Parts: sequence; structure tokens; C-alpha cells
Amino acid sequence: MALTHHLAAAAAALVVWLVGLAIYRLHFHPLAKFPGPKLAALTTWYEGYYDVVLKGKYTFQFGRMHEKYGPIVRIGPNELHVLDHEYYNELYNQTNRLDKYAWFYSMVGNPVATFPTIRADVHRLRRGALAPFFSAKAVSDFHPRIQALTDRLTARMKQCAERDEPIPLFFAYRCLTVDIISEYIFGKQLGLLDRADWGRDFYSAWRSLWDLSPLIRQLPFLMDVFMGMPRWMTKLTSPKALEVIDMKTQTDQMTREVLASPPPDKVREGENQRNIVRALAHDEDLPASEKTFERISEEANNLLAAGFETTAAVLTHMTYLVLAHPEVHAKLRKELEDAIPDPENIPSWQTLEKLPYLFACVKESIR
Ligand code: HEM
Repeated sequence: MALTHHLAAAAAALVVWLVGLAIYRLHFHPLAKFPGPKLAALTTWYEGYYDVVLKGKYTFQFGRMHEKYGPIVRIGPNELHVLDHEYYNELYNQTNRLDKYAWFYSMVGNPVATFPTIRADVHRLRRGALAPFFSAKAVSDFHPRIQALTDRLTARMKQCAERDEPIPLFFAYRCLTVDIISEYIFGKQLGLLDRADWGRDFYSAWRSLWDLSPLIRQLPFLMDVFMGMPRWMTKLTSPKALEVIDMKTQTDQMTREVLASPPPDKVREGENQRNIVRALAHDEDLPASEKTFERISEEANNLLAAGFETTAAVLTHMTYLVLAHPEVHAKLRKELEDAIPDPENIPSWQTLEKLPYLFACVKESIR
């Protein structure tokens, strides 16, 4: 009897809390005055429906919402979507020191990497430590390595053409970008370009992470739950989560190896001594708390994700779009043939970047 009473009281409290929250979100929340679907204002599960159930479809709703509600729409209890290109520069600039939105970034779990760092002051410190690796000079210095790996990809593509085998571009470009970015981060490649399966196995774990992330955003404790389970149970409840956990273990091991490796003057052959993990670990401007294994390994993992999927997606789209539009293909080919008389001798990226049609194709593919 007492238990029934307790349960009834708990249920009543929950109902009161939910009704109170709904009234607050609809009428008293700072975003209450902005238009949008009422359900979106009430719960993050509105977004969850499109992204978890319909698998990543919320972004395609925004255009429809703008048609109905105007240029500013409340797309979630704490989120606005703004359809105004000029506002982009106001929001994303060097002087605007805004914190990031914790709920949004919770999908990547631990917020110690730069990308999901919430507080603007901490973010500034972490972003500053990465900045030297994003300068034009740093990219220029790294260019010979990028060229060597690209040559390896083209050699493999030629081999496929000679054997009349298909080239799975989606995976082929991911092999290239993973090998490039892993060398930049860890000083050595993961060697995907040499794998017979074009890195499909490797990619499968990341794909699982992308698939799980909208759900993790709704239930941020979920990954910790999977990690706390025995392996067999994780495998049974979510094979995708197990893949993600194993992938993290593998990249953590790479970080561990770099941190344990000899100082720069005694670097082993085949290792690139200037790599992000090593630089962060020895960065004198960073306090010790920013140089823990946990933070550096998380940063490395995030950078790998940020650096390979984005760039490979652009290359895949670009190849498809160029080949799907013969007039674009012909124009681009002509510009490249004129600029590169000897294919064995590819000009520097500074020269290539000045080719107007190539530049436009790259920009359009990124868009
Ligand atoms: C075409 C290629 C790329 C695209 C389209 C792209 C896109 C983006 C976008 C949209 C963000 C902002 C995300 C947010 O804050 O919500 C971002 C952040 C970031 N990206 Fe990329 N990215 C690309 C390549 C790369 C590469 C190659 C790297 C690493 C080598 C990288 C590392 C990062 C990092 C560290 C952040 C977080 C920056 C910060 O919080 O200040 N990205 N990227």
C-alpha cells in the first residue's frame, strides 16, 4: 500500500514537473517569442524524431519551416535557426566569444577536445594550441606528404583501371584522407591505402558513430552505459557501440605510442616528428591539465574524425558532380591539362589554387 502511494506521488510530481516545463518553454522561455512548431519548442524529441527515427533528416526540415514561419525559426526548446547569410558573419567571427551549446555537442561524449569545448575561454586556449597546424605555412610544409599519398591513391586507381576493376570512390577517398590526417596527427599513417578492402572495416566503426550520435545527443549517458557493460552485453545490445569503443581503443593506443616515443631528435625512421599529438604534449603555453593523456587522446580522436570524413565527402561529391556534368568535366580537364603539362610534375597547391575553374569546382563541392 505504502509503495503504491509512493509511486502515485512520484507520478504526480512527474506530471506537475512536465506541465510546468511545458508552460515555461512555451510562454516564459527566452526563445518563447520566436515562431516555430509548438512540439519543437516543447521537446528535443521533435528533432529526435527526424534525426533518430528518420535517420538524420531534421536539417531538411529547416527550409520548410522557414517557408512557413519566416527567417528565424525556433527549431528546438533552446535552438533557433536563422536564414540570413549576413548573420553568419555576425555569429561566427573572431570577436564573438560565445559559449557553444552543450546539448548539441554532447553527441561526441567527452567535451575535452576543441570541437565540443563549451566554454569560450577554454575553447580559445585549445584552439590556439591547434592554430599552428592550420596555417598556410604548415599546410605548405606538409604538402609533399599529401602529394606522396595522393600518388599512392592514383597508382592504385590506375591498377584498378588496368584490371578493369571498379574503384569504390567513397572508400578510396576515405583511405586517402585517413592516411593524410593520421600522419598529421600521429606522425604515421594508418595505412588504409594499402588495405585490400579499401578500409571498409575501419570505416564501419566511424559510420556506427555517425549513426549513433543523434541518439547519444538525446541520451548523453548512453555511451557510458555501453562502456560500463561487459563486452558480450554491448555486442548483444549494440554492435555499433562496440565498434565505436574498439575504434577509440585503437586510436588511444596510437596516441599512447606517440607520447611514449623518443624526443624529436631521436625520432624513429618512417615517423614524422612534427605531429599534433607530440606538439600538444610539449606545448609550453598549455597548462598541465590540458596535456593529460585523456585530453590529448580525445583531441586526436576528434581531429581524425573532423579531418577525414569532411574532406573525403567533398572529394567524393566533387568527382561525382564533375563526371555527371560532361561540360564541367571538359572545362576542368582543359584547365588542368594546360596548367599541368607533365603529370609527373604536379605544381604546388599555391599554383593550383589560382586556377579559377578548379577553385570554383572545389568551392562548389564544399558547398
Ligand atoms: C572540407 C573539409 C572540412 C569541412 C567541410 C569542415 C567543416 C567544419 C565545420 C562546419 C566545423 C564547425 C563545427 C561546429 O563548431 O559545430 C568544423 C570545425 C572543426 N574542424 Fe573542420 N571541416 C573540414 C576539414 C577539417 C580538417 C581537415 C580538420 C583537421 C585537420 C578539421 C578540424 C576541425 C576542428 C578542430 C574543428 C573545431 C574548431 C573549433 O571548435 O574551433 N576540419 N569543421
